[in-house]
Amino acid sequence: MRWTRAAGRGLLVLLVVLTGYVAFGTRAQEGPGDGRGPLTLATAGDLTGYLGPLLEGWNTTHPGEGVTLVELPDSADETHAQMVTDLRGGERSRFDVLNIDVNWTSEFAAAGWIRPLDADRFPLGTFLPPVVDTATYDGRLYAVPYVTNAGLLLYRKDVLEEEGLPPPRTWTELERYAETVAPRHGLGGYAGQFLPYEGLTVNAAEAVYSAGGTILGDEGSRVTVDSAAAREGIGFLVRGVREGWIPREALTYKEEESKQAFQDGRLLFLRNWPYAYVGASAEGSRVAGRIGAVPLPGPEGPGTSVLGGSNLAVSTHARHPDTAARLIAYLTSEPVQRQVLTRGALPPVRADLYENPDLIREFPYLPTLRESVLAAAPRPRSPRYDQVSLAVQAVVHDAMTGHQTPEAAVRRLARELDAIAR
Ligand code: GLC
Repeated sequence: MRWTRAAGRGLLVLLVVLTGYVAFGTRAQEGPGDGRGPLTLATAGDLTGYLGPLLEGWNTTHPGEGVTLVELPDSADETHAQMVTDLRGGERSRFDVLNIDVNWTSEFAAAGWIRPLDADRFPLGTFLPPVVDTATYDGRLYAVPYVTNAGLLLYRKDVLEEEGLPPPRTWTELERYAETVAPRHGLGGYAGQFLPYEGLTVNAAEAVYSAGGTILGDEGSRVTVDSAAAREGIGFLVRGVREGWIPREALTYKEEESKQAFQDGRLLFLRNWPYAYVGASAEGSRVAGRIGAVPLPGPEGPGTSVLGGSNLAVSTHARHPDTAARLIAYLTSEPVQRQVLTRGALPPVRADLYENPDLIREFPYLPTLRESVLAAAPRPRSPRYDQVSLAVQAVVHDAMTGHQTPEAAVRRLARELDAIAR
């Protein structure tokens, strides 16, 4: 079953890629200069099922400016690697519009791979304020926010209600319930995304921020991670594995595996993006109707989520920049943003959708999510973000597997980040 699906997916990707090449062939014959013509849109391959029909809508109403979707691997790190390889090809690059993770904007802009955009062409004023920041570099707009994201704590409402407990607001409560309540119900305590990849950077940054620490300051040129708060944040994750209320298996989880564990009824608490709430509430989930979502807790009060999501950027070598900008305006228009939520289960960037009573009825976590996005903190900003993230993942994973104390881990991370920042 797995094999067949993987093979089918491979074939689909191949088809999409081939279609892309055919599209280029056609483009080469068109007169450059008018800025309009067919395009490719490259995006990470996860959670994109809703995009095909959306782009078909565009393609039928924009003859001669058709978009070909190029789906890259699911994991943020692998998508990053493929985009960078493509963009380094300069004029030979295949990708015109890129759906980039919010924290890649600085790196791609500083490298000259994406072009500054004319802010007047996009409805930036209608977006939740923090998302616009992620799309700027050096005071200029280099991308347009498309999807936002904030981590939430999903919990088993049925179990906590049976125990007469409210959902946890602090790490102390979370640890206590994960350690004592979860085993009584045959459940693992707490999980997030702890495999060494971008997801672990997110979880580690959230732990550090929630404890009041930071990782880098001054646009990446100053290392601030060697602090008591960072030790406390990393200590929370390390203690969980050591004491067993974070199951060891969670050290191999990305978003999907952790969501599966929760919806199979194997976990009391899960840190994940809101799409996991939708998945765990859907038909086929063993916990449908029995879950809740609250903001991430911190040591003694509310914690801090990292700001996730993606921005749409235009490659410096995009062959039809005017069409690219028009496509981005379409993807950030109200009707499309609504579908990003209703069909894609992804958090839109348009602020008014979070206050729409019909949508709140269908997606009850929207008010909590809105608060979490407004209070979320960006990941360290750096033109060398990819290296920063690799260092965080490696060090925190070593600490969580018990190879290093939180104190030693934070010192080592500070040294490694110093070398990168220099
Ligand atoms: C989600 C977030 C993205 C983050 C990634 C980590 O896709 O939207 O910002 O980098 O998860 O796995």
